[in-house]
Amino acid sequence: MGKQLELYEKYFVKNNFERLGLFKLLRDEFDIRSALYLGSFLHITPAFVFPKTVFVDSDRRVQKFYADPEIRKMVKSKKQYKSEADFIGIQQNYEKTNLLDEDSFDLLISQYAGFVSQAGKRYLKNNGILIVNNSHGDASMAFLDQDYQLVGVINHSNGNWRYSSKNLGDYFVPKKPPHPSVEQIKSVMRGVVYTKSAGIYVFKLSKD
Ligand SMILES: C[S@@+](CC[C@H](N)C(=O)[O-])C[C@H]1O[C@@H](n2cnc3c(N)ncnc32)[C@H](O)[C@@H]1O
Repeated sequence: MGKQLELYEKYFVKNNFERLGLFKLLRDEFDIRSALYLGSFLHITPAFVFPKTVFVDSDRRVQKFYADPEIRKMVKSKKQYKSEADFIGIQQNYEKTNLLDEDSFDLLISQYAGFVSQAGKRYLKNNGILIVNNSHGDASMAFLDQDYQLVGVINHSNGNWRYSSKNLGDYFVPKKPPHPSVEQIKSVMRGVVYTKSAGIYVFKLSKD
């Protein structure tokens, strides 16, 4: 096994952290064909499910990893769609990225990588989907952003990923009101503690 494949095995397969079921669920629920993953590190799993994926991360290992022939071969063998896999890894600070066309992705992925909901918004199509966890407060940022509407939550247990769009008003109620402002969330970069929380929040973007 080559070095790049070893990295994927080490960080994602051995840690049981591929999250393949999450991406399958999103594809089935929202008919997603293209995804933008800011702060992806080497988490190539979405390319198994979405025909077009762009990965952006400042880590120096990124460029080599996504271009590696063995990695490309793995995606080819695991992909769940008929067309050729179309993916690229860009080594860059996502705050500065202006390489991509605006309004061009069905899905924006924010997982443990800062305020992706804000930096990636312009690349997401109108009515595009954002998935976001709250490890760095990015879910709270999306909640406070008028352009995003909470449409569902996703939870994970025993290998099962479950989507729900019920009782959404119960989420984002801070344990200690009032809800922190955008500036406060930016300065602490930590998730707000809520009375009810989910593993992953699903928002729809409205650019009207
Ligand atoms: C904890 S890792 C999470 C990786 C992946 N999202 C996952 O869930 O497995 C955070 C990643 O975000 C990247 N990152 C954080 N801020 C970034 C920025 N402004 N531009 C590019 N990459 C960033 C880091 O380089 C790191 O690889």
